[in-house]
Amino acid sequence: CGGVGGVLLRLCLFLAPVTKTVSPMSSTGSRRFRSTSSMQGFSELARERSKTVTSFYNQSTIDVSAEKVRSPDFIPASVRLTLATLLYSGKSPDGHHILSSAKYLHKELPVRIAHRIKGFRSLPFIIGCNPTILQVHELYIRAYQVLSDFPLIKDQDEDRRFCKLVHQLLDDHKDVVTMLAQGFRECRRHIQDESIIRNFLDTTLCSRLGIRMLATHHLALHEDNPDFVGIICRRLSPKKIIEKWVDFSRRLSEHQYGNAPRVRINGHVAARFPFIPLPLDYILPELLKNAMRATMESHLDTPYNVPDVVVTIANNDTDFVIRISDRGGGIPHKIIDKVMDYHFSTAEESAQDPRMSNFFNNITNSGNQSSPMHGFGFGLPTSRAYAEYLGGSLSIQSMQGIGTDVYLRLRHIDGKGESFRV
Ligand SMILES: Nc1ncnc2c1ncn2[C@@H]1O[C@H](COP(=O)(O)OP(=O)(O)OP(=O)(O)O)[C@@H](O)[C@H]1O
Ligand SMILES: *[C@@H]1O[C@H](CO)[C@@H](O)[C@H](O)[C@H]1NC(C)=O
Ligand SMILES: *[C@@H]1O[C@H](CO)[C@@H](O)[C@H](O)[C@H]1NC(C)=O
Ligand SMILES: *[C@@H]1O[C@H](CO)[C@@H](O)[C@H](O)[C@H]1NC(C)=O
Ligand SMILES: *[C@@H]1O[C@H](CO)[C@@H](O)[C@H](O)[C@H]1NC(C)=O
Ligand SMILES: [Mg+2]
Repeated sequence: CGGVGGVLLRLCLFLAPVTKTVSPMSSTGSRRFRSTSSMQGFSELARERSKTVTSFYNQSTIDVSAEKVRSPDFIPASVRLTLATLLYSGKSPDGHHILSSAKYLHKELPVRIAHRIKGFRSLPFIIGCNPTILQVHELYIRAYQVLSDFPLIKDQDEDRRFCKLVHQLLDDHKDVVTMLAQGFRECRRHIQDESIIRNFLDTTLCSRLGIRMLATHHLALHEDNPDFVGIICRRLSPKKIIEKWVDFSRRLSEHQYGNAPRVRINGHVAARFPFIPLPLDYILPELLKNAMRATMESHLDTPYNVPDVVVTIANNDTDFVIRISDRGGGIPHKIIDKVMDYHFSTAEESAQDPRMSNFFNNITNSGNQSSPMHGFGFGLPTSRAYAEYLGGSLSIQSMQGIGTDVYLRLRHIDGKGESFRV
């Protein structure tokens, strides 16, 4: 960390086990990809694993590896695939395509991870030494090491072992977004230049999404599902996936506020096209939770009579738009410029509303988790970063006193325009 190289990293690693504070964590299961789970899900197992990372550090091996990581000729520009390439790079009956996918991943993953380690090393010292950030840094170093130690993949047996490793790494890294949110929240007040944090998080989170898409794609190639090629759904119905996350968000809302707005879906409801559910599985619940929270909190006196949320789908052969409209009172002018900032959240103000405190107290009593509807102020900035990474956009139109429209625009994989890269 600190960008000054090995000495400081060594210092940080030395400090890490001493300063590491283990926050109270419950194991509420696997909520990978979520920003709002606090430290829960960071299970006993993961803690155990990160401990062994520290002990498995062999100073000389790390230095050699860190040298490699820092040497520019060791890092070729990482190849960014178009999804159309993944989609149409045909299946072969003898499983040949799986083997070449494994070889590609085996070469590509360490390179991408090396870039992330470089990112951690160039963080300001005070941030790089935060115990939670350091823990993530260590996760990446460990991933880099086990992946580069993995021998060349020549047959299906080795591919099977490689898949097991990839699966385990995906699991080890499932709480990284939450850990970064937590870590930066602890130390961001020491940093004057906000853009450092924004750039680091945008880059790290998007790169992580890309890595997870590639890795999950390879694992999914082994499954025999006629509707899918790897992680790409051949005929994705935006309506179906929206409905799935509406149910999820309504359950959360009912748990927290005692009721949830109903959701109407209109527009091109019959549209179907090839797409990857994975990024939508992150973005949609974040946007729906925001809309439901705004609706419920602007109608605290009439929680059983709240306006519907309306979701509209528009699709053509270039891209598609999902608009989520709520009547939740809109976003006040004075904060509209901040809602896309990492860590900006009005969650604490809500908690202070006397009408809300009942709900919050009941929730605090019924579990250790902070409220799942909102928390770190990561929902919007992360969703926008993901949308832009995939060649799309996320924009907000708020009418103060009335409600908010959020437009999520995403490019088709095989559309007329140029497809995005992963
Ligand atoms: N549909 C909306 N209507 C009104 N205000 C909104 C809406 N969506 C977001 N906001 C405001 O923007 C802030 C930031 O939203 P964001 O989703 O990034 O964070 P959060 O919901 O507070 O926490 P998290 O999403 O990380 O759990 C919210 O706290 C809320 O004040
Ligand atoms: C560290 O690694 C080097 C080279 O791989 C090896 O020779 C040495 O014994 C290792 N040291 C420890 C303490 O494991
Ligand atoms: C449809 O296509 C045009 C480009 O020809 C694009 O600008 C427009 O926004 C597209 N998307 C939708 C959902 O209408
Ligand atoms: C909170 O809990 C108390 C008792 O446990 C209950 O009477 C009350 O209705 C609850 N409030 C809400 C809003 O759920
Ligand atoms: C809260 O967490 C502690 C340990 O972190 C656990 O022992 C306790 O059972 C939890 N309480 C609830 C209500 O889940
Ligand atoms: Mg949110």
